[in-house]
Amino acid sequence: NKPLYIQKAAQLVTLQGSSDAPLRKEEMEQLQIIEDGSVWIEDGLIQSVDTDAEIQKRYASRLNEAEIVNARGKLVTPGLVDPHTHIVFAGSRESEFELRLKGATYMEIMNAGGGIHSTTSATRNASHEQLYEESWKRLDQFLRHGVTTVEAKSGYGLSMEHEIKQLEVAQQLNRDHTIDIVSTFMGAHAVPADYKERPDDFVDEVIQKMLPEVARRELAEFNDVFCERGVFTPDQSRRILEAGKKWGLLPKIHADEIEPYRGAELAAEVGAVSADHLLRASDVGIQAMADQGVVAVLLPGTAFFLMAEMANGRKMVDTGVPVALSTDCNPGSSPTVSLPFIMNLGCLKMGMTPAEVLTATTINAAHAIRRGHEIGSLEKGKKADLVIFDVPNYMGLQYSYGSNHTQTVIKNGRVVYR
Ligand code: NIG
Ligand code: FE
Repeated sequence: NKPLYIQKAAQLVTLQGSSDAPLRKEEMEQLQIIEDGSVWIEDGLIQSVDTDAEIQKRYASRLNEAEIVNARGKLVTPGLVDPHTHIVFAGSRESEFELRLKGATYMEIMNAGGGIHSTTSATRNASHEQLYEESWKRLDQFLRHGVTTVEAKSGYGLSMEHEIKQLEVAQQLNRDHTIDIVSTFMGAHAVPADYKERPDDFVDEVIQKMLPEVARRELAEFNDVFCERGVFTPDQSRRILEAGKKWGLLPKIHADEIEPYRGAELAAEVGAVSADHLLRASDVGIQAMADQGVVAVLLPGTAFFLMAEMANGRKMVDTGVPVALSTDCNPGSSPTVSLPFIMNLGCLKMGMTPAEVLTATTINAAHAIRRGHEIGSLEKGKKADLVIFDVPNYMGLQYSYGSNHTQTVIKNGRVVYR
């Protein structure tokens, strides 16, 4: 295999020195940019990141061996990482979108048997092959937007059989598709209709049956729960997250999305890797997350699509919470694959800067799924996942908003899209 030589980017965003812990506060603006920067790649890994002059010197005897990708005038960044998606599902929910535009709320639709329940029916009825194909298309679209790794949650099965089916589809997609997938079990995404009158029995089912089986089959690394009034209470959520820890599944939580519900506090208490959404998180909860180093995964596409007030990203960064951003790609509250658009919202609706949102979708996103040592920055020894954007500097990604500037995507040292 030929070496790959990414040559002379106008700006090469390296984020070097960030592999051990997510970046916080002012660190989130320190992109460690190299002008006229080049990258030498071999065996799928980054070998050297430096100015082009240095790379030319260092590899002088081997320049004619390499496949050269010209990045002059462009921005090069680490491959984008999406740390929160629900991409394995069947069907779509356009009619609920129209109902919401006419005044119905997300929770009203869910409580009337729609919402997550309607996608659960469609997903239960779909075969493994059908789910695989529908999800494959979404992964292709993610790749075209510069995303090289995604997290994917189950939670549209809500029974042993169908949760396992969803996780097996994600596992097979991880093997077959260019994008890497990190799996999360989310059996506690909603209380299924047949348990409506006895939700604690469903919690027991998740704890006693599903978690052990998912762990035994090594189908997930994380365990997530939708902690929200009318879905799972903080007590039920704590039980589920603590039980997962015993099986080696690290906790994540959908917290304080619709109402303040002490979700951020619970995340800190159980030592969650991340707490996600946080639109209505309390100041005490935000401080507790900062103290415990819980990553805030903010999902401004969801607030946008639900026409709700955004999470206070600015305040979280200033408080010292490590912040990541994600699409939340799902058929109900955020049907998008455009992580670049999410970055636009981070700037324009959450008060974050262009440098902060880039940190939030690369190294901090990698830390939110425990991949900070492998991806998320451009450093010797890391996976060679990179994106060339057709903008002259990192601010251009946000300034010229709403379009897809992705020009070339490199995954594991190979050009996979251009
Ligand atoms: O992250 N909040 C809960 N779960 C998803 C939405 C799932 C759905 O509506 O299908 C979310 O927003
Ligand atoms: Fe979600």
